[in-house]
Amino acid sequence: MTHTTMRAMVIERTGGPEELVPAAVPYPSRVGSEVLVRVVAAGVNRCDADTRAGRPDSAATDAWPAVLGHDFSGVVVEAPYAAHALKPGDPVYGMAMFPHSTGSYAEYVSVPAMSVARKPASLTHVEAAGVPLAALTAWGMVVEVAKAHEGQRVLVNAGAGGVGHFAVQFAAYFGAHVVATGSERNAGWLRDLGAAEVVDYASSSADRVVRDVDVVLNLVDDDAVAERSLAALRPGGLVVHAPHASWAALAPKAAAAGLRSTGFAVAPDAATLAIVSRLLDSGDVRVYVDDVYDLDEAADAHSRLEQRHTRGKLVLRVTDE
Ligand SMILES: NC(=O)c1ccc[n+]([C@@H]2O[C@H](COP(=O)([O-])OP(=O)(O)OC[C@H]3O[C@@H](n4cnc5c(N)ncnc54)[C@H](OP(=O)(O)O)[C@@H]3O)[C@@H](O)[C@H]2O)c1
Repeated sequence: MTHTTMRAMVIERTGGPEELVPAAVPYPSRVGSEVLVRVVAAGVNRCDADTRAGRPDSAATDAWPAVLGHDFSGVVVEAPYAAHALKPGDPVYGMAMFPHSTGSYAEYVSVPAMSVARKPASLTHVEAAGVPLAALTAWGMVVEVAKAHEGQRVLVNAGAGGVGHFAVQFAAYFGAHVVATGSERNAGWLRDLGAAEVVDYASSSADRVVRDVDVVLNLVDDDAVAERSLAALRPGGLVVHAPHASWAALAPKAAAAGLRSTGFAVAPDAATLAIVSRLLDSGDVRVYVDDVYDLDEAADAHSRLEQRHTRGKLVLRVTDE
């Protein structure tokens, strides 16, 4: 069958969730080392909502209408060449390089092969679509930057979110003593994921009850929360800060307090995703999908995400499994 267009959710301009509308957009043409994937499910991320809203420091696109979305899980339609490791029909998942490519809120996406890994066999496409961007962010912060290890004390600020629930699990997997912040309703679940201590941020703030951690992973987009978390660090400790917008304000405060600090920016990475696949298939790590929406309900998913109380991930179902 020759396609000329495909179904997608697009924005014509930045604004609220209602700007996400269905449209027929050009079918992607695969070039060079790209893999063309039929998308079964697309993960929803805070950076998608930031781009949609045109928030400062979010990725900008100059291709309008813009197909948003980074995460996808689906099936290979076209591989770069006959002897490539990925073949048509293979179940895969990965992270599109939006805004430098068309996003994943669509029936098809064409992405560099280095962004695509085999889908964990034990996961459905809906579950797998919740993994790439959040797990790659958590892995980068926990393993590559903080170098999680036995006995290290790690505070994960917002342990119950998309990135947080992977960060808690990766840090615990590598033997760290994990303290996670979250609301009371998530306390038991966070302990199941591997948190040794949970601080209910509504009744006590982590800086008052947690001391001498080696690392703070900041996943709360709130200058005051980030700044207070510095008090939980031991002298010379490290803060790794994910929200782009508040990084500039935090860096000089960390330096003035004699702490090490860095921002972070996630990138597509098939090799790391292959490791994450093994951890998911072995059951050492799990993904939690809080809710699933149809592709054309993307606006509802964005509204929900922007309330900032998702447990784990939200996913869009593009076609049936
Ligand atoms: N730099 C990068 O490459 C990168 C990549 C990914 C994400 N990010 C950023 O990292 C942040 C987290 O992303 P995400 O996808 O994990 O977000 P998310 O899934 O929307 O986070 C939702 C979670 O935040 C928790 N939360 C809200 N306010 C909190 C507070 N004051 N203290 C503790 N927990 C709180 C909620 O827990 P309760 O329901 O228990 O309240 C909820 O589980 C965002 O700012 C995002 O933009 C950056």
